[in-house]
Amino acid sequence: MDKNHLIPVYGRYPVTLSHGQGAEVWDVNGKHYWDFLAGIGVNSLGYGHERILKAFDKSQNLLHTSNLFWHNPGIELSNKIAELTGGYLSLWVNSGTEANEAGIKLMRRYGKSVGRSAILSLTNGFHGRTMGSLSATFVPRYQDPFAPLVPDFYEVEAGSLSALEEAIDQFHPCGVMMEPIQGEGGVVPLPRGYLSQGAKLAKEAGCLVLIDEIQTGMGRTAQWFAFQSEDIEPDIITVAKGLGGGIPIGGMLAQEHVASHFLPGEHGSTFGGNPLASQMALAVIDWLEAEGLEHIRKMAGVLEETLGSLQRDFPDLVLGYRGQGLMWGLLVSVPSSPIAAQALDRGLIVNAPQPDVIRLLPPLIVNEEAIGAFFHIMTQVLQLTREQREGA
Ligand SMILES: Cc1ncc(COP(=O)(O)O)c(C=O)c1O
Repeated sequence: MDKNHLIPVYGRYPVTLSHGQGAEVWDVNGKHYWDFLAGIGVNSLGYGHERILKAFDKSQNLLHTSNLFWHNPGIELSNKIAELTGGYLSLWVNSGTEANEAGIKLMRRYGKSVGRSAILSLTNGFHGRTMGSLSATFVPRYQDPFAPLVPDFYEVEAGSLSALEEAIDQFHPCGVMMEPIQGEGGVVPLPRGYLSQGAKLAKEAGCLVLIDEIQTGMGRTAQWFAFQSEDIEPDIITVAKGLGGGIPIGGMLAQEHVASHFLPGEHGSTFGGNPLASQMALAVIDWLEAEGLEHIRKMAGVLEETLGSLQRDFPDLVLGYRGQGLMWGLLVSVPSSPIAAQALDRGLIVNAPQPDVIRLLPPLIVNEEAIGAFFHIMTQVLQLTREQREGA
């Protein structure tokens, strides 16, 4: 693994995965892991789920068509999204960053009609790594190596309505982008009421509101979209990650009067929304509708209680936990990376998106047995961490 031919942009764990089933995976040496990260919120139905396998089967003889043609899975998927959202139109791409890129272009396109181009996004947010979405991701270690970025993007302090109001007055933006819970930022929910009041301020000023549901959407927070906890009707919703159950698909969903600013030929993607990806997304949505959302609600309660137990057992190490549904950040008083590494050693996959946060994004099919195993392994890891700290 030291000598490979990949461009080394990733810090990988020294583990080569081989196969999985449910919420469990095995590496090439036969070692077993409980997966509480799900490919960073992607493998929503875990591994080897029969709905996913059936969707593969159905797609076998038409994986791709290009967007010069219609295909039934694509038509069904967009109909389903319209039904779930109350009429949003969809544009399909292949990843989260591309979904946001499409949203940024649509906001700019709308901006042309009103003479505006500024786009606002929040401190500590993450919207992706292509030049447009990176320009909306105000994290210096991601942005600085690639400056100059796309002009006319501005950072606004997350959670402050007065900061948002000031920025709207100052920049007259065509759009504002926000995640309801900042995932890469360390699972940080926006303060209650901020989304709805912020959206109201923006809309009154003629500014479009894009809600980035790439990590929080498609059941992750025990509802279709995290913004549904608040009274808000976004102009644009972006989705990806868990939507395809492991197959790349991203979507930019927009209200019809907003979507209509795009004219034929102004945006597109060769692969976007191909029959395979659409069929997989339909499989995930069907599961969520039939049983998934209810299952997630139940498991969310079990997981939240488990996190409470960890905090009670280790108040010196676990300072708190935040999140919703099956998306949680455990706040720790010691560096989080060694904790994630020790968990991996003991057969539990979690990650450390911030130096003081352990993130949990288990597959949405996670069950009580898996949550029990998570508790058991985390208890061992925290016990060891405590002993090491006391011995130091
Ligand atoms: C909220 C949010 N937006 C956008 C992205 C970018 O998605 P992708 O990595 O699929 O391009 C991510 C990825 O972590 C994300 O969490």
